Amino acid sequence: MKTIKTVKEMKEIVDSYKASFNKTIGLVPTMGYLHDGHLSLIKRAREENHIVIVSVFVNPTQFGVNEDYEIYPKDIKRDKELAEAAGADYMFHPTVEEMYPTGHKTYVEVLDITDKLCGASRPGHFKGVTTIVNKLFQIVEPNRAYFGLKDAQQVAVVQQMVRDLFLNTEIVPCPIVREPDGLAMSSRNILLSPEDRQAALILSKGLMEAKKIVDCGEKNVFTIKEKIIKIISQEPTVNIDYIEMLQFPTLEAVSIIGGKVLIAIAAKVGNVRLIDNIIMEE
Ligand code: PAJ
Repeated sequence: MKTIKTVKEMKEIVDSYKASFNKTIGLVPTMGYLHDGHLSLIKRAREENHIVIVSVFVNPTQFGVNEDYEIYPKDIKRDKELAEAAGADYMFHPTVEEMYPTGHKTYVEVLDITDKLCGASRPGHFKGVTTIVNKLFQIVEPNRAYFGLKDAQQVAVVQQMVRDLFLNTEIVPCPIVREPDGLAMSSRNILLSPEDRQAALILSKGLMEAKKIVDCGEKNVFTIKEKIIKIISQEPTVNIDYIEMLQFPTLEAVSIIGGKVLIAIAAKVGNVRLIDNIIMEE
């Protein structure tokens, strides 16, 4: 695996593949500190493309002023080893100045579906996400890009952007990878104290319990939400930001379960903001 630091070099490599062979490129955009969730995307990309490019870039524009940009975990040496073992051909690892050179003035923004869930709690977050994902797509010109359903709203927003801007990239949504005890894998889990790590389990427990009651016939969204709130409130150190049930991927409101429904949770566990979800098909 080769590590590429500049846009120019990455574009030259992409151009060489586009010009001389009919090769497909799979892109896995990440912010690094790779775990099995990320690696599942890289492995899937490996199966489906000739060339696999993993980007590692902690994107400053998607973090709010009081968020964890400064302490976002990093270990690029380990990331390189893991990405290579999972089958990546290239790691694109640019600097902030490379991606946002002095004088940068252009942003890409998806409206409406970015106003809810994490978009409501993190104003400007998705504007940063769509801007950087668009930049990466311009540089790498991927045939396919792999995104985890851990960030279900991100998948919906990026799919919307691809449709609206007629981009030539297929978005491949991939299932959530969990720790054996149910906690959704996240680069931020390392920031949890051992007590908070244990308390965080209540999020996936709440979601599994919701799935159970839906499977047993409960269809009323209000009742299901109340049940999840009651379960999560058992952990005093877990502060719910939102629990929402919405149609997926349109993110329209629902009152009675039907079609594809996303149950999404965001909560602060200690100082760490975690998200988790399930998508149910009725
Ligand atoms: P990051 O949080 O590093 O995640 C990179 C990709 O890995 C995302 O598509 C995310 O949904 C996926 N992922 C994370 N945890 C996962 C899990 N437990 N199971 C399956 N997939 C998982 O998401 C971002 O970075 C950024 O917003 C990015 C798209 C790179 C733009 O900066």
